[in-house]
Amino acid sequence: MVPILALRAPLSALVWVLWLALLPAAASAQTPSGIDLGADVRTIFAAKCLECHNPDSDSSKARREFDGAWDLALVIAAWSDPVAFDLAPLWEVVSEGSMPPEDEDVAALTEQEAQLLLQWLEFGTPLPADGNRFVDLPMAARLLADALPSTAPAETTTRSWQQRLRIWLGRNHAAITHFPVALLLLAALMRVFQWSRWRQNAWRAEGFCLAFGAPCAILAAGLGWLNAANSGAASDLLERHRWVGVGVAGTSMLLLLLRKKYGARVFYAWLLLGLAIAVAIGGHQGGEMVFGESYLDF
Ligand code: HEC
Repeated sequence: MVPILALRAPLSALVWVLWLALLPAAASAQTPSGIDLGADVRTIFAAKCLECHNPDSDSSKARREFDGAWDLALVIAAWSDPVAFDLAPLWEVVSEGSMPPEDEDVAALTEQEAQLLLQWLEFGTPLPADGNRFVDLPMAARLLADALPSTAPAETTTRSWQQRLRIWLGRNHAAITHFPVALLLLAALMRVFQWSRWRQNAWRAEGFCLAFGAPCAILAAGLGWLNAANSGAASDLLERHRWVGVGVAGTSMLLLLLRKKYGARVFYAWLLLGLAIAVAIGGHQGGEMVFGESYLDF
């Protein structure tokens, strides 16, 4: 007697768990027998809703409203109501007959289609019996693949040694670029000390920074072009960044060459100031490309 008494609590818990596990099965058993509501609804969505409610749709209004008609799980999340099925957005548009909109290429729902959609809501939005919840499989495959992390590591094995070298060199653009940025800014800063008692040291330091900064700027610009070509990236920001980079490389080289003859002239100091500003702009653009355009928002 004692062991059985001791088992009573776990046993009744087990019965509860089994009963709860059977609940969903009991619910789906209520669907009209022999009808695969989920599969029917999948077909209706493919024929009558997908055209507008998908991420590539021509109708920006429909896209903004809902672009997930390629996946029944998204439809259920957006357009059903687990508590009151007749308050669901889908119930509303179907019973009003407002979707698909009139005077569009897509034909209106037939009476039978409308009934199937309403029943589907009523019976708790069962998924198709074959387990495929995707209204459009190729679209789902593409969209889900886009959402996955890129398959870059797999690609590297098929690249030639030269290609990998080019890519690797290009990726060093960001690291190398810190040298001209610091050196050229420092060169311009040294000009300020021309009016102090450190005059001579500042002059030499300026020359040193330019002598190293200008070649580094050319290297950084070259690697930047290589990097952009490898990645296939294209944007207005990239376009502006690349020409600022070329401008900085060219100007710093010019300053290095003119330095001996014209280094003490006023125009030279202005050019140096302009260079510093261009370096700051180019550096900021690079930051925007890596961290996003609002990375420095205060
Ligand atoms: C020809 C394009 C088109 C088709 C096809 C279409 N829709 Fe829409 N749908 C829209 C647009 C556009 C909106 C944005 C609301 C509006 O302007 O009426 C919308 C909005 C909706 C809304 C939100 C309405 C609201 O008032 O909140 C639901 C729900 C909806 N559609 C369901 C469907 C269903 C279900 C189907 C297929 C039976 C379908 N749509 C087919 C264009 C379309």
